[in-house]
Amino acid sequence: MSGSERREPSDDVRHRRRMVIALSLSLVLIAIAVLVVGYVSGADPAVAGSSDGAADAATETPRPAPEAIPAPATVESFDKAARSLDDPTSIWVVVNKLRPLNPQDYEPDDLVSVPVEHTWEPELRQEASDAVVAMFDAALAEAGLELASNSAYRSYSAQEEVYDGDDLTTARPGFSEHQTGLTMDIGAASGDCSLAECFADTPEGAWLRDNAWRFGFIMRYPADKTDVTGYSFEPWHYRYVGTDLATEMHDTGFTTLEEFFGLPAAPDYE
Ligand code: DAL
Ligand code: ZN
Repeated sequence: MSGSERREPSDDVRHRRRMVIALSLSLVLIAIAVLVVGYVSGADPAVAGSSDGAADAATETPRPAPEAIPAPATVESFDKAARSLDDPTSIWVVVNKLRPLNPQDYEPDDLVSVPVEHTWEPELRQEASDAVVAMFDAALAEAGLELASNSAYRSYSAQEEVYDGDDLTTARPGFSEHQTGLTMDIGAASGDCSLAECFADTPEGAWLRDNAWRFGFIMRYPADKTDVTGYSFEPWHYRYVGTDLATEMHDTGFTTLEEFFGLPAAPDYE
């Protein structure tokens, strides 16, 4: 055999060559697989799936950072249906010429004697009595004014005595707020302008007009609302409705229960 003569490799060598080639191909395929998997899982999906990634990114809706979302504003709304306007035991009961007490001979079951200066021994429901005491104390402490009760709870039969036939100034029995045990006619302890329109111009009348809401009272028969309430101006007649409602009416500027609750005006009896 000459030096240029090509010798056929042995079977053993051929086998080893095939093994090396197969191993190399396997390594190349594994490397390609690793590269492909890495690219797909790490790519931006908005860009990876598109032939024009920049255009897709431009139409994508930007999501605000969590801290950029404003907290919803808390709106405190007054619930006008929180209490009954019909039940005579409710401190929101609305009594007028179209809305008699029901039953008409209703009597509160928690009347107490009100420990304040008075001309007639006053009784009110416990809650209203406590509010009157706090209000009279504040008038004295804050303004040096002495208040007194001229009339408070009146039963059906007591209202029969009071009713004088003048529907502009007195309520018929069964139709008076005094029968709820939540109302007091308030005056100056001095008696100045007692149960008269001029009480509005006294320091006591002015203080009550400006401050009664803080204690849960409203002046029930304002000067300019006779066509709504059915009664002429009574700057001494204060009705307890609780501080929530009195404050809401004060803050919103409503001066009658009829207007605040959207009830019909009650200038006359049916
Ligand atoms: N003076 C008021 C209207 C009443 O009699 O109840
Ligand atoms: Zn009164």
